[in-house]
Amino acid sequence: MSETLHPRPLRLGVNIDHVATIRNARGGDHPDPVRAAQIVAKVGGDGITAHLREDRRHIRDEDLARIQQATDLPLNLEMAATREMLAIALRHKPHAACIVPEKREERTTEGGLDAAGLHNTLVPIVDELRGAGIRVSLFIEADERQLDAALRLGAPVVEFHTGEYAHAFLDGDRERVERELKRISDMAALAAKNGIEAHAGHGLTFDNVQPIVAIPQIAELNIGHYLIGEAVFVGLEPAIRRMRELMDEVR
Ligand code: PXP
Repeated sequence: MSETLHPRPLRLGVNIDHVATIRNARGGDHPDPVRAAQIVAKVGGDGITAHLREDRRHIRDEDLARIQQATDLPLNLEMAATREMLAIALRHKPHAACIVPEKREERTTEGGLDAAGLHNTLVPIVDELRGAGIRVSLFIEADERQLDAALRLGAPVVEFHTGEYAHAFLDGDRERVERELKRISDMAALAAKNGIEAHAGHGLTFDNVQPIVAIPQIAELNIGHYLIGEAVFVGLEPAIRRMRELMDEVR
């Protein structure tokens, strides 16, 4: 079904949550995130990312199975560390589960998971997901303490939160941008050294993606809001293609 499942140096996972946000604004079934998933497959995206939030503000339970049936692409389910989400993940068995922090009142995932502070909560969740053959990823800040916690939990993957980098970029604060890049790059190298695969995501755009792509240990980017926003103007296919081109220019 998908044109490109061949391995690539850097994978692009497309987060389709905000197609569902637009759908839900009118309570109907258009635009359908499943159609977005099919477009991602058609243009050679490497995976579908979807966040089933506690309040179901975008993706809903029934979307998960529909997305899984609609494409061969691996599904990366973003989920809070709760028993409810664990049960859903075990039922759907996505390719990967990315554990994210979640607060009801936040507009988006603000800051990384406190993998160190939540160690005891995370142990059974990570173990059960891994036991079911689901690739566990922890969405953390690029911070040695958090990386160490991920290592202790036996997570095979970490996704570094690039939100602070994206904010610094928007503010035009070169010094902060460089500091953030160094932090992410150092932690990606440390992750790789410890056998953990490094991913990155949050707030990535056409303008700010390339310095992140240049970090050689990063194996996957997960990008959503900007691509769906661009899709309003140019269409989803061209938006994803452009992101892929920008990534390929660097690696
Ligand atoms: N990765 C994770 C773990 C996320 O929670 C999000 C936001 O849902 C993203 C990537 C994508 O962020 P954005 O929508 O800002 O591209």
